[in-house]
Amino acid sequence: MARDKALIVGNWKMNLGVHEASLYLHKLSKVVKIHRNVEVVIAPTMLTLQTLSLQVNLRQIKLAAQNFYWRDHGAYTGEVSASQLRGIVQFALVGHSERRYVFNESDKDTRAKVQAAIRNDIRPILCVGETLSERTANETKDVLFDQLIGGLANVTSEELDRVVIAYEPVWAIGTGKNAVPEDVMNAIQAIRSQLKHLYGAKAADGVQVLYGGSVTADSAATYLALPDVDGLLIGGASLDDHAFASIIEKAYVSKK
Ligand code: 13P
Repeated sequence: MARDKALIVGNWKMNLGVHEASLYLHKLSKVVKIHRNVEVVIAPTMLTLQTLSLQVNLRQIKLAAQNFYWRDHGAYTGEVSASQLRGIVQFALVGHSERRYVFNESDKDTRAKVQAAIRNDIRPILCVGETLSERTANETKDVLFDQLIGGLANVTSEELDRVVIAYEPVWAIGTGKNAVPEDVMNAIQAIRSQLKHLYGAKAADGVQVLYGGSVTADSAATYLALPDVDGLLIGGASLDDHAFASIIEKAYVSKK
């Protein structure tokens, strides 16, 4: 997948109901340009996906699921599968730290979900990142390697270009604490060198790697200017359509 494209993904988490989501999309659609080198994605709650899929212009804005179950169908009360999301979403988050730490998802779950997404023509955005204690113990690289191997174990080099990796240090999520550019560069270089090790230089070089964690309209340009950052995964700031639009604007400027 082309790394000359910036991918700007808004993860709404468990926020915005059906009407609010629809209104938000209506407002965002007025300002998002169809830009060859900037791809805009929103990840609303599961409940709103179908409504928004009927409203959205996919050339302008794409949709992502925040979660799904890896089996395609069966007796799994309360779950929604990637096969049911097929055609409704183009992307899906996998292995977000809130899934890993609040809902105890393992690397095995993450791996099965990456596979299920690919099997159903949905691009997985595999989230990786260290906690504060892992960072303090100097374990960042080991954690990233383990999460990459854990999540990608069944992905072939032909499938790798369907996958997006998001580096989201857990301590920077929703805390207002920004990772400094140097730390982001180091982490993303470690991610890419691990991908190289697993898949070879050519396949690894094509993978889009995003940064996420307390990104705001003010800090977005700094991250987008880093050569290793191919886009952003935004939580809190994506809930405000003005702030999100302003971040998208920064991506247009960085990709001119
Ligand atoms: P914040 O931007 O609110 O820190 O959230 C980041 C995130 O978890 C996106 O998936």
